[in-house]
Amino acid sequence: MFKIGSVALDNNILLAPMAGVADGAFRAICRKFGCALTYTEMVSAKALSFQDAKTCRMLKIDDAEKPCGVQIFGSEPEVMARVARDAVVGGAALLDINMGCPMPKVADHGDGAALMRNPDLVAKIVHAVVRAACVPVTVKIRKGWDEQSINAVEVAKIAQENGAAAVAVHGRTRQQMYTGKADWGIIKAVKDALGIPVIGNGDIFAAEDALKMLELTGCDAVMVGRGAQGNPFIFRQINALLQTGSVMYMPTLQDKIQTLLEQVSLMIAQKGEYIAIREARKHAAWYLKGERNSARVRGELNHAGTLADLKKILQTVL
Ligand SMILES: Cc1cc2nc3c(=O)[nH]c(=O)nc-3n(C[C@H](O)[C@H](O)[C@H](O)COP(=O)(O)O)c2cc1C
Repeated sequence: MFKIGSVALDNNILLAPMAGVADGAFRAICRKFGCALTYTEMVSAKALSFQDAKTCRMLKIDDAEKPCGVQIFGSEPEVMARVARDAVVGGAALLDINMGCPMPKVADHGDGAALMRNPDLVAKIVHAVVRAACVPVTVKIRKGWDEQSINAVEVAKIAQENGAAAVAVHGRTRQQMYTGKADWGIIKAVKDALGIPVIGNGDIFAAEDALKMLELTGCDAVMVGRGAQGNPFIFRQINALLQTGSVMYMPTLQDKIQTLLEQVSLMIAQKGEYIAIREARKHAAWYLKGERNSARVRGELNHAGTLADLKKILQTVL
């Protein structure tokens, strides 16, 4: 068992927050395949403070995705503290603060990864949110802003000093975005410096990668992002490898299609068919990656407008 503050989890394999990917449906599917904790897509603290309806809907968490953390982003300590309680009314187990988002629309406003350039502000934000929240508060950081300003250890220590219950570290700088290789050495450096749990993140694409990260860095838990896209099976595989020493589960094409359709039916229930099918196109392409005719099928998927269209295309694959 792995604990973050007072929250006890089944294991130490987590799904990364992914805006536009890890919606409620995908979180439920990943949980079903054995991930211990899911996170909402990042939610703007400012929009939440204005009670923006779309943002408030992002806080809703179904039982099947629990335990799930809500991730907020922002840079104003008072605003973030003010929304800390409201953010978890949908049933979140913990509250995560985004200090890693590299996207200009976030970082250019001083939010996300830009916070790593301002350790004093990090201290104020974590302090304020921890005091206001009624659940454990965690922080997700990167290696640093760029190669000239690598300060993950400093920022992680500040988070710990101000009451964070765990820190997740993505081993890339903001400048790298998602290019190059994640530096697992920085995860080890943070682990060596902290007493609270450290969650390692970056470039886990197979069960063996998770085992390697745990062994090489000593981190307490691993967080899988892109490696789970179209591949929630990775959670079952990592669990099997950690428990038995071998990956015993390999999904067949039928398994993949069945799981995809289960995810799509959850998406339809949550968003309606029109939006769900459009959003499901990329998930379908990920599920079918590497299968025979996947390039042709990807093209066809882009024209699927209804569940019936999607099923027809999947039939041709089978
Ligand atoms: C499409 C996409 C959306 C993401 N959205 C978020 C987000 O909302 N919050 C966050 O902290 N990180 C976000 N990330 C970063 C991931 O959580 C993770 O740190 C990163 O992908 C590295 O892990 P990986 O190599 O396992 O993918 C996103 C990544 C991707 C690919």
